[in-house]
Amino acid sequence: MPHNIPKIILDTDPGGDDIFALLWLQSLVKQGLSELVAVTTAGGNVAPEKTFSSASRVLSLGGLAAVEVGRGVAIAKTPDDASHIHGSDGMGNLSAQLPAPVHCYETARYSDEILIDRLTATPGEITVIAIAPLTNLAAAEKKSPGILRNAKEIIIMGGAFHCPGNVTPHAEFNLWFDPAAAEIVLNSRDDLVITSLDVTRRLVFTREMGKAIARSNPTSELSKFLTNLCEFMISTALKYRETDGIEGFLVHDAATLGYLFYPETMRWRRAKVQMETRGEWTKGMTAIDDRNCAKQPANAWIASDVDATRFFTNLIEDLKALNKGSESP
Ligand code: RIB
Ligand code: CA
Repeated sequence: MPHNIPKIILDTDPGGDDIFALLWLQSLVKQGLSELVAVTTAGGNVAPEKTFSSASRVLSLGGLAAVEVGRGVAIAKTPDDASHIHGSDGMGNLSAQLPAPVHCYETARYSDEILIDRLTATPGEITVIAIAPLTNLAAAEKKSPGILRNAKEIIIMGGAFHCPGNVTPHAEFNLWFDPAAAEIVLNSRDDLVITSLDVTRRLVFTREMGKAIARSNPTSELSKFLTNLCEFMISTALKYRETDGIEGFLVHDAATLGYLFYPETMRWRRAKVQMETRGEWTKGMTAIDDRNCAKQPANAWIASDVDATRFFTNLIEDLKALNKGSESP
């Protein structure tokens, strides 16, 4: 295995777009381009037990069932979930279509324990990709102050900087769900990498893209699952008018992998990103200072543009590669 491939912990709350990110990552692992250290699940799109179960099922589907899965750290007050977008099971109500989870929720380590353990053991080596509410990362930082700086990088899908939010006019779901946690993570280091709605709103995965992937192995379990998941996600995206009528859905979370593996598809700028944790109307909003004259020290690189065509070319070819190697019933 090449020496400097990214070693990754994926913090996730499956969710349809989380599932695309996890499958894409499994393709890259199987191509020898990455190492998946652990998948730490969180509550968010749906309840922690369900995100845990989905992560386990999708790891089996992609052939990496041996990877450890963490159970989400509980939060005091659980806001509304996103099951109206992702289905009651968080995977398009398709969980019965996949084999039962091979990981056991009741005996699994908590996600913050895994983050602390792994980041302590190999400081500076592991990239944390956070595509869920930041509850687990904040819990790890509270238990072991400074631990997040042990990550080689922290890449976050979250925030809405110069565009409307998707939960309120001001707030994006991941950071809105647990704003206190987001504030802890935003204050943890000064080189966070953030792909916000500003760019992920342009990443519309279409039915045609799904068909192109399925054609690479038409009878595989993966083709059947992806086709059905696409149809579900397209139905809710159209219902909630997320794609301006285009028959597709937004693969927000996959943008983090676009940065890490295909950085030429995005443009970046430095910024100070802060969380609004108290506003009556703006709680969960990300307050940003990305002015050239910004006087506050920046804490993040934020994506300012994405070449969606090149992004999807890579995503589709990598998912075709995974599909070609996957099994048929
Ligand atoms: O706002 C988009 C984010 O919220 C994504 O992580 C998606 O999975 C949803 O949870
Ligand atoms: Ca997510």
